[in-house]
Amino acid sequence: MHAPSLLLAAAVMLGSSVAAPADAVVSTHLAMPAPAAASDKLRIMPLGDSITEITCWRALVWDMIAEAGYADKVEYVGSQDSNPQDCKPQTANWDEHHESHSGWLAIDIANSYITKWMASTPADIVMFMLGTNDVVRGHTTADIMAAYTKIGAVARASNPKIKIIVDQVIPLPLSSAGIVAINKAIPAWAAGLNSTDSPIVIADCNTGFPTGDLRDGVHPNLDGDKILASRIGPLLLSYIKESLG
Ligand SMILES: *[C@@H]1O[C@H](CO)[C@@H](O)[C@H](O)[C@H]1NC(C)=O
Repeated sequence: MHAPSLLLAAAVMLGSSVAAPADAVVSTHLAMPAPAAASDKLRIMPLGDSITEITCWRALVWDMIAEAGYADKVEYVGSQDSNPQDCKPQTANWDEHHESHSGWLAIDIANSYITKWMASTPADIVMFMLGTNDVVRGHTTADIMAAYTKIGAVARASNPKIKIIVDQVIPLPLSSAGIVAINKAIPAWAAGLNSTDSPIVIADCNTGFPTGDLRDGVHPNLDGDKILASRIGPLLLSYIKESLG
């Protein structure tokens, strides 16, 4: 009987419990400053769980944005503004905003949070990696893909021209089958919902990602972050160039 305790260990490593209690979210919201005046920057929302929150690939992708000359023309958006891993990219003043929440499930985000987040910090581009915590908690691939669909629908309701990057999820040795199943479902999911106005592209963050690049069996170490940046960054830059010329 090792499986349950291993799953519990994975859930603990992934962070907190299912989703933050509603009152925690409310107090976070109340503590936030009033929304900044609308800017004319291109808005990019990094959406995810701890693999987006407590890692450095967001920072490395910002370096790619800066190197391409777009640092003053784009911004990361989201209710969070943090650098928990103390990432030190080349660009000292990188934009630390994001919408990623350690331990949270795609299903909970889809059902209870994404509408509010898209309303409070609308985006022109959303890039997301989600589903790892759902797999750890035994949710089916079908339910996870339904959550992706809802997230996509809410994003498009908020901005019919939103550009979407969906990440195939990095390996999770403790629950490999569920991760393999999501990653296998993503191409047909993305192709089925693709549209000219609101394109969806897939960042393969799984192929060739060695489990040795997981610092704790769940989260990428710096080498893993570099792999993620190399898979996500070029797709993001291509969207940025399409949008800004
Ligand atoms: C979605 O369509 C665009 C072209 O409009 C294409 O580049 C992209 O690969 C398509 N995505 C998927 C997942 O088929």
